[in-house]
Amino acid sequence: MKKNRAVITGVHGWVPEYILTNKELETMVDTNDEWIVTRTGIKERRILKGENQGTSVIGINAVKGLLKKTNTNPEDIDLIICATVTPDMPFPATANIIAEGVGAKNSYSFDISAACSGFLYALTMGSQFIETGMHKKVIIVGADKMSSIIDYQDRATCIIFGDGGGAVLLEPTEEEVGIMDSLLHADGSGAPYLHMKAGGSRKPATIETVNAREHFAYQEGSTVFKFAVTNMAEVSAQIMERNNLQAKDVAWLVPHQANKRIIDATANRMGIGPEKVMLNIEHYGNTTAGTLPLCLWDYESQLKKGDNIILAAFGGGFTWGAIYLKWGFDPKQ
Ligand SMILES: CC(C)(COP(=O)(O)OP(=O)(O)OC[C@H]1O[C@@H](n2cnc3c(N)ncnc32)[C@H](O)[C@@H]1OP(=O)(O)O)[C@@H](O)C(=O)NCCC(=O)NCCS
Repeated sequence: MKKNRAVITGVHGWVPEYILTNKELETMVDTNDEWIVTRTGIKERRILKGENQGTSVIGINAVKGLLKKTNTNPEDIDLIICATVTPDMPFPATANIIAEGVGAKNSYSFDISAACSGFLYALTMGSQFIETGMHKKVIIVGADKMSSIIDYQDRATCIIFGDGGGAVLLEPTEEEVGIMDSLLHADGSGAPYLHMKAGGSRKPATIETVNAREHFAYQEGSTVFKFAVTNMAEVSAQIMERNNLQAKDVAWLVPHQANKRIIDATANRMGIGPEKVMLNIEHYGNTTAGTLPLCLWDYESQLKKGDNIILAAFGGGFTWGAIYLKWGFDPKQ
């Protein structure tokens, strides 16, 4: 019997309107546009402003757009998985709020916490539900409102992150397209270098934790950088090797957008040129679980059915991984 594969049949993204430029950051911390651009490749990022605006706002807008462009009835959705580290609240899951917001009444929904690798983890998990035949329509959301956990007094961290996200629809196919392979890793010994110190069950919020600024993302940038460069490049090369893919066979690399230098190192290790690398870090910075679907959305019109695509990410945990997929449709006219 032919294997049922899970294929992406639609992608949509959403970013808030407000643009936080490097120039504006210069007025907030001791930094400058030249340093940020050379060290990271980032020029601006989006910020979700306003009362009561959580990550679900990003997810709901992305999913509504996705349902519209794929002509999907929200009541036909079986499952929504949301990858995020900035849930609206510890519970219920942000995916539950998104499901309610888009009218997915027959869907169940849950969140996945794997930081910048969250979209890879969620896409892998979602595709299993399709491959087993359990579900017909699964939506994977990757979204983060990083501005809610960023310390705008910490110049090494606040310059990198922004808000945004995207969503894809997964459906079954018997064609030779879709999610072909997935290689995921985690190493909990990386936690001290990238984490949030307080606000969880180990250290609930107190006046002291707030005063000590412990409710913000804490990152030891140069250590994370070293792990990210090595592991993202290595896992991308490994997934190519085990699927017998040469550089010439790969149409696109979709890399996590944390630092342009990490992206360049990954492309070099894979032996592919810059023309095959999806890049939008300049405009959005690092939107954590949002970067990969945002890239696919930005480049959607250039993707052709059968394109071999490698998605790769590295993030807090540490978590990292790569997915090999064959794109499932030609640009819609
Ligand atoms: C955060 C990051 C951009 C910092 O760049 P870096 O080259 O490692 O810089 P360092 O932290 O080593 O700091 C170098 C110097 O620049 C300074 N610096 C840091 N941020 C600065 C800023 N925004 N503007 C100006 N100077 C800055 C530091 O204070 C340090 O100065 P010193 O040498 O006088 O002490 C980089 O480490 C990075 O991208 N890390 C990985 C991020 C990532 O992938 N995260 C995982 C996914 S979320």
